[in-house]
Amino acid sequence: ATSREAWGERTPSAARSARNGVGLITIDGPAGAGKSTVAQLLAQRLGLRYLDTGATYRALAYEALARGINLRNAAHVAGLVGRVRVRVRQDASGRLRVEVDGQDVTWQIRSEAVTDAAAIIAQFPVVRLRLVALQRRLVAGRRTVAEGRDTGSFVFPKAAHKFFLTATVRVRAARRQHELRQLHGRSASRTLIARQLRARDAMDVRRTVGPLVRPAGAVVIDTSRLTAGQ
Ligand code: DC
Repeated sequence: ATSREAWGERTPSAARSARNGVGLITIDGPAGAGKSTVAQLLAQRLGLRYLDTGATYRALAYEALARGINLRNAAHVAGLVGRVRVRVRQDASGRLRVEVDGQDVTWQIRSEAVTDAAAIIAQFPVVRLRLVALQRRLVAGRRTVAEGRDTGSFVFPKAAHKFFLTATVRVRAARRQHELRQLHGRSASRTLIARQLRARDAMDVRRTVGPLVRPAGAVVIDTSRLTAGQ
């Protein structure tokens, strides 16, 4: 990608095809449904780009924490979107890299502190609207698999193909438990994780802008009993 492309500047034709949803696949669903895993596999297999919209919430939350910004000050947090350069891309080996102002924060944005902070700032309409604009710029009309909570319903409503992944709380908690162990070497009780997931689901479903919904026309897949490959 050229540097212009990397920062998501659009050419007129790219902007047009983005509006028409050509070459766009969206995957939405609750935490732990398998969105990231499936979206990355799909992007690799089809030779499309991959956009993890959750990573934009995480990157912003990371930067707000780093700057000591009060997370409840929505205007202040949202204002950061215009002042920092967030870059989300797949590296040569297909792994997601996230940068804020040129600093690689791929690893840092998965911390538990950032996970909690991202959930807080994702509640504010003003923050969401700024990040949605960023997500559209990041896609900029290129063929992409976008994944998140509201990509088919709100960010890219004209996407050509929409999927909604779901799984039981029990299965999602087990996946999260595994991830915590792999990522942070931490063992946590599955009951506690299940409670946290339910709380996060409630926040995702209730917010006014970009709530978690099954987009109209989406193919619904329950991944509870499926492997990633399936
Ligand atoms: O999928 P994730 O855990 O990386 O998402 C991080 C946070 O961002 C999480 O609290 C949900 C929120 N999010 C959102 O509100 N809308 C999206 N499209 C993606 C993520």
